[in-house]
Amino acid sequence: MNAMVPDRVQRSFSRSFQSYHDAAGPQAGIAAQLAARLTELGAPDAFETLFEIGCGTGHLTAALQARFDIGSATLNDLMPQAVETARAWNADFLVGDIRAVDWPRNPDLIASTSTIQWLDDPGEIVQRAARALAPGGWLAISGFGRDQFAELRDLGSESAAPGLCAPEDLAQALEQSGGGAVEVLDLWQERHRLWFRSPPDVLRHLRETGVNGRAGHVWTRATLAAFCDGYTRAFATDKGVPLTYHPVWIIARRRA
Ligand SMILES: C[S@@+](CC[C@H](N)C(=O)[O-])C[C@H]1O[C@@H](n2cnc3c(N)ncnc32)[C@H](O)[C@@H]1O
Repeated sequence: MNAMVPDRVQRSFSRSFQSYHDAAGPQAGIAAQLAARLTELGAPDAFETLFEIGCGTGHLTAALQARFDIGSATLNDLMPQAVETARAWNADFLVGDIRAVDWPRNPDLIASTSTIQWLDDPGEIVQRAARALAPGGWLAISGFGRDQFAELRDLGSESAAPGLCAPEDLAQALEQSGGGAVEVLDLWQERHRLWFRSPPDVLRHLRETGVNGRAGHVWTRATLAAFCDGYTRAFATDKGVPLTYHPVWIIARRRA
């Protein structure tokens, strides 16, 4: 485990926790899509127990609660502030790094959106989720692929989250851990671009959502001007400047 990552994530998210919910349009969309996909794949209308990893301000919690009848829920997050999400949904709250906390026993649904990219080894959490599930239980976990914020990467940024991966990497992790117990039902990825008027608007979006290590970057007038200039030269079109999102997910079911 890389102890540096939670610190960096914690700094990033505590700065932006309030602004995150409204600014995180892409993450809200991913949460709604993931919940809808569970239904399309034949998930039951009701789950006795939900365990959610990295609940944040509750985009996925809300999407799941709107769609499924959930008996009881345990919500985890690194950030103590996320207890408010648990309160809002009358759920138990498990604060701490998901790699270090004690998981609830045998949930029927383990779900997570836009969180595992912060882990050095996202496959490890998918493996652990598969082992923890109740027989017949469902797992729905999204992260981000290697083209997440491709523009920043192309400009030489080294602040990418450590666990960017392909959905197939997550499936492979399941196979390696004796995947026979779990059936993979869906592997999905999509690349889409958000458009902004200018590079400072891109930086504001990153700051408000806390989804990038650059939230902690200290800018000087010169480095900011150089960044904006490089971004404009490389990517500007008549629509403005893009920022690529590359969500990925795995949905799987433990055999009964
Ligand atoms: C981008 S937010 C996503 C929140 C919510 N799932 C959504 O889709 O809007 C990522 C969340 O994961 C939490 N997080 C990051 N690393 C974590 C870890 N190692 N263990 C538990 N939570 C973590 C952050 O504190 C943050 O609330």
